[in-house]
Amino acid sequence: MPLVVVTGGCGFIGCNLVRMLLRDGAPDLRVRVFDAFTYAGDLRNLADVLADDRLEVVQGDVTDAEALRAALEGADQVYHLAAESHNDRAILDPWTTWRANADGAAQLLIAAKDARVGRVLFVSTDEVYGVAAEGQKFSEDAPLNPRGPYQASKAAGDCLARAFFETYGLNVVVARPTNNYGPYQFPEKLIPVLVWRALNDQPLPLYGDGQQRRDFLHVEDCCRALKLLMDRGQAGQAYNIPGDNEHANIEVARAILQLLEKPESLIHFVADRPGHDFRYALDGRKLADLGWQPLIPWEQGLRDTVAWYVENRDWLEYMVAKAQDFLSRWYSERV
Ligand code: DAU
Repeated sequence: MPLVVVTGGCGFIGCNLVRMLLRDGAPDLRVRVFDAFTYAGDLRNLADVLADDRLEVVQGDVTDAEALRAALEGADQVYHLAAESHNDRAILDPWTTWRANADGAAQLLIAAKDARVGRVLFVSTDEVYGVAAEGQKFSEDAPLNPRGPYQASKAAGDCLARAFFETYGLNVVVARPTNNYGPYQFPEKLIPVLVWRALNDQPLPLYGDGQQRRDFLHVEDCCRALKLLMDRGQAGQAYNIPGDNEHANIEVARAILQLLEKPESLIHFVADRPGHDFRYALDGRKLADLGWQPLIPWEQGLRDTVAWYVENRDWLEYMVAKAQDFLSRWYSERV
């Protein structure tokens, strides 16, 4: 009975991955979610699969060595997704971010080594490369050049994963996905923030001039890539997961307003994010060589995502309430 552990399995990418593993997995698969339930991680994100007896949910923090030791016992595979994932929170509170993403990565890797886990899929980010110039795409051997506290904390974990492969022979593969979007994304990130604001006829805050660019990848495409890398990635290697779907933030805002039939006059330019990375871009050939490509077209993915938030307005309102302290503080500083 193979045991798969997903850290951060109640968060955005984590819950989508857990759902996919259960949907596509064998009847004897066991999935153990390890999640701290800090704020974005929430049992509600797994509500529809909690009755599946192949799923077990354990509360624990990745900086807690004892809790990790117990959670990883007997694990064949570990997907490490637990993280403080928001750039803006990291700007307000760099220590909490460092602790989860760097200390947490170290504890996870130590626990995986000690438990002789078969393989770790370590989820990093495209942001470790820093800003991509116009026309430039980073391949996996580009130097890491993180520019903010979130990016630096992720780069620390990314480097440590490689170090554990080289030093201890830990079977670890690193994934560097670009901006995910889709259902269950916490309403502190661009798309759910804009959808919530538009639904409530409130101004849509765009940092600076809204011309910064991101490569948007549907979370289901990302989860397929993570599974493929778990199965077929080469140990000790890093793999980019691009969306091949670059858009300026203002284009995203316009598309959301159009889908919700709201006026463009709701767009509101606010003070920029300090140290805001203008653009990220990935060369995805290494992953394409394993047979992966993104399948969900942007127009369809965004339409379905916006529809999901509309249909799950209770979920959205509940999560916004959980984020309220942060949202009030962050956006009151931006006007
Ligand atoms: O690139 C992968 C990364 O994508 C992940 O590693 C991070 O965990 C994830 O949070 C995301 O980082 P970003 O900073 O790119 O995502 P965010 O949704 O916060 O912002 C996307 C863009 O939208 C960015 O240029 C900032 C801008 N933005 C964001 C918010 C929340 C706004 O203009 N207004 C906003 O209110």
